Amino acid sequence: MVYNTFEVKSVQSFEDILKRVGNTPHIPLSSPNDKVELYAKLEWFNPFGSLKDRAVLWMIKDAEKKGVLKKGQTILIEPTSGNTGIAIAGIARALGYTAELVVPAKVSEETKELIRRLGALVLQTEDDLCPRVGPGTDQCIALANSIIRARPEKYVMLNQYANEANFLAHYESTGPEIWSSLKDVTHFIAGVGTGGTLTGVAAYLKKKNPNVKVIGVQPQKAHHIQGLRNLEESMAPELLRRRLDLIDEWIKISDSEAFKTVRFLAESKRLFVGPSSGAVYAAAQKVAGRLSKGKLVLIFADDGRKFWSLYSKFKVFTREEFEYYSRNARYLPENILFQEEVLRVY
Ligand SMILES: Cc1ncc(COP(=O)(O)O)c(C=O)c1O
Repeated sequence: MVYNTFEVKSVQSFEDILKRVGNTPHIPLSSPNDKVELYAKLEWFNPFGSLKDRAVLWMIKDAEKKGVLKKGQTILIEPTSGNTGIAIAGIARALGYTAELVVPAKVSEETKELIRRLGALVLQTEDDLCPRVGPGTDQCIALANSIIRARPEKYVMLNQYANEANFLAHYESTGPEIWSSLKDVTHFIAGVGTGGTLTGVAAYLKKKNPNVKVIGVQPQKAHHIQGLRNLEESMAPELLRRRLDLIDEWIKISDSEAFKTVRFLAESKRLFVGPSSGAVYAAAQKVAGRLSKGKLVLIFADDGRKFWSLYSKFKVFTREEFEYYSRNARYLPENILFQEEVLRVY
């Protein structure tokens, strides 16, 4: 197996990068109903471009506390369909570990390329987008497990689907950030992958106000929304099952609704979002339309810049439009992932 073996040039800059996890902005969005306020939390402001930076940082710090990891020796291996892979590649390297990510072949080429550029190895299987979790033919999980079995002294799996630190990341950071910035939130709406975001934020917000309603967004069966899970075709992950009672309602969004909404957000609001944010905003429109009053907070998990292959396949944008929004959309930070000089550190 071949790794990028360049030296870590400046530990200080890695530390700076990790300090930028969390504290992402909330922006107001127009609502179909003036009595209902809508806010989106822009998780692409995290240093590796998504909400998964939080879960990964918490899981690695927790494993360090438990003495499971050895700097310079441990290889972190994880089945993932995208953002977790990018976050593990970046954060593991910053903290002195190697990473190998087992991803379904359907994951976008841009995502795989980013993982490689962050110095990690990409292993591919023929799975559906989200590893299915549970019995059956989950090749991502099976391959990761068989590699660990062969070299248990070297490999560690964080296992985001059952790791309590994934829940805690959102209970201790995302939830408190939402409550302290926006106060009297009435509804929280997010997609579900492992369930870490939904249950972590739900537990915190309901502690502050038990009347807060939590709405989970699921994609259709055989979907193309990287990071999300349809719970009819794949089992609910253990992390979600532990606190399923915190979810008040589920809304299902089709791929075409999600893609139409991605385009709508770009055209009408100059917001360039990833596909799951399209699904979440589409669900929020349905909720806002039936309320007489409320303050809704939505999670926008990542931005659109790593989805050219998906958006071109489904004709969401032309190449010119995609490039235009990549450069000119509002609220796109010069994210670390897209700064060549920072990628060179890796
Ligand atoms: C792209 C993406 N990945 C993952 C998630 C959810 O992550 P998890 O349920 O694993 O916390 C979301 C949720 O909104 C998402 O949009």
